[in-house]
Amino acid sequence: MRAANDPALVDASKGLLNRRIFGDPDIYAQELEQVFGRCWLFVAHESQIAKPNDFIASYMGEDPVLVTRDSRGKVHTFLNMCRHRGNRVCRADFGNAPSFMCTYHGWTFATDGKLVGVPGYKEAYFEELDRSQWGLVEAPVQTYKGLVFANWDTKAPSLIDFLGDAAWYLDLVVDRREGGSELLEGVHKWAFTCNWKFGADNFGGDNYHVPISHGSVGLSGVNGQAQRRMPAPSQPQGAPQRPPMNGDPNRANVSPGNGHGVIGGYMGATPNMMGLSSTGNGQYYIDHLKELEQRLGPVRGRQASMGIATVFPNFTWFGSSGCMLRVWNPRGSFSTEMWSWCIVDKLAPQEARDDIRKYLTLCFSPSGTFEQDDGDNFAQSTKSATGTIGKRYPVNIQQGLGHERTSEVIPGLLSGTISETNARSFYGRWAEMMNASSWDKISISPRTK
Ligand code: FES
Ligand SMILES: [Fe+2]
Repeated sequence: MRAANDPALVDASKGLLNRRIFGDPDIYAQELEQVFGRCWLFVAHESQIAKPNDFIASYMGEDPVLVTRDSRGKVHTFLNMCRHRGNRVCRADFGNAPSFMCTYHGWTFATDGKLVGVPGYKEAYFEELDRSQWGLVEAPVQTYKGLVFANWDTKAPSLIDFLGDAAWYLDLVVDRREGGSELLEGVHKWAFTCNWKFGADNFGGDNYHVPISHGSVGLSGVNGQAQRRMPAPSQPQGAPQRPPMNGDPNRANVSPGNGHGVIGGYMGATPNMMGLSSTGNGQYYIDHLKELEQRLGPVRGRQASMGIATVFPNFTWFGSSGCMLRVWNPRGSFSTEMWSWCIVDKLAPQEARDDIRKYLTLCFSPSGTFEQDDGDNFAQSTKSATGTIGKRYPVNIQQGLGHERTSEVIPGLLSGTISETNARSFYGRWAEMMNASSWDKISISPRTK
């Protein structure tokens, strides 16, 4: 069996992937260690833990974590694991509590992670247990404009360097209006029978599938004008008119570096309406373009829609007539647990919040129109990775190879809106992390704009 760091597994320069990276259990175990164990991972939005002693359960890879705001207001991320025998110290999804008592034997931990209660400390441990050494295991935390990220690797670069130029695009989600953003209450969680990488890669750069996979959504008209703006290779009879592929030089897919990918690079002189409906919640974003321009300057000030992106490895945003954040949680090679939230400007009125929630539930949710199409594609493509014959043949991500460009106007490496440059960047980064023994052997592209 080939080692997981065999260079033949990913050849980004030729646009080829060994299908085994989606199905091999040894590779999966290695990526949990070397990708999820070393990257900054989105664990919560600060609005979910607004008050002292608020907490919310989350995941980093397959490891359950608790994100807390301690009694003095500091944000932490802890492994949700009792230091005695390993029981979960908190079973609730979220809440407010000054401490967590393990339901096995009763060890109790404060929201700053300290072990503050041990039943039988005197009689059974003879006061010899050093409680200061047995607090919850903590992952360092850094935040970016309300988004909380955690990282198990203390040698990792800072979050802002890790995000690099992806932050320039992420500002369109979290910094549109005074006061920033917050999540609407509630989360959608459901399972995909696919490898996590298929979803993360798709949302970071795959426009190619849209007119084909989601053609029926376009024909049904349930998504307003979103589909009418997507290019198609051919026009099925009766289909709405679509522009030609890569026909607009002012639009691009963007690889901001560090494995991240953005759909929605825009250099036009008029507002970018990609995917935006002209009524209801779409209008909300159009109405606040002046404020956006004042905050983020003229180029980003034309971004009525926020684009779609994946921050490597598994954090995605999708912004058009509403914006969602999502995490592709790995659950074995063949299973992914999706967590998905609606994100809104703090200043957004109730009517816009209601419209945004309805729009995203209609399109992207367990019952979402787009989601049904995507999920089956990801599942079938994953299944091929287990085929005795199928896995002998590589995955092709060669589209647009060698046709990348840069721009003075927006940061990152640009490619056509129909290209697989972002996929090559994503899997190239994945291979780099799988091959490197530590962060000092991994390249980092800091923010340039
Ligand atoms: S496992 Fe938590 S107190 Fe024993
Ligand atoms: Fe899709």
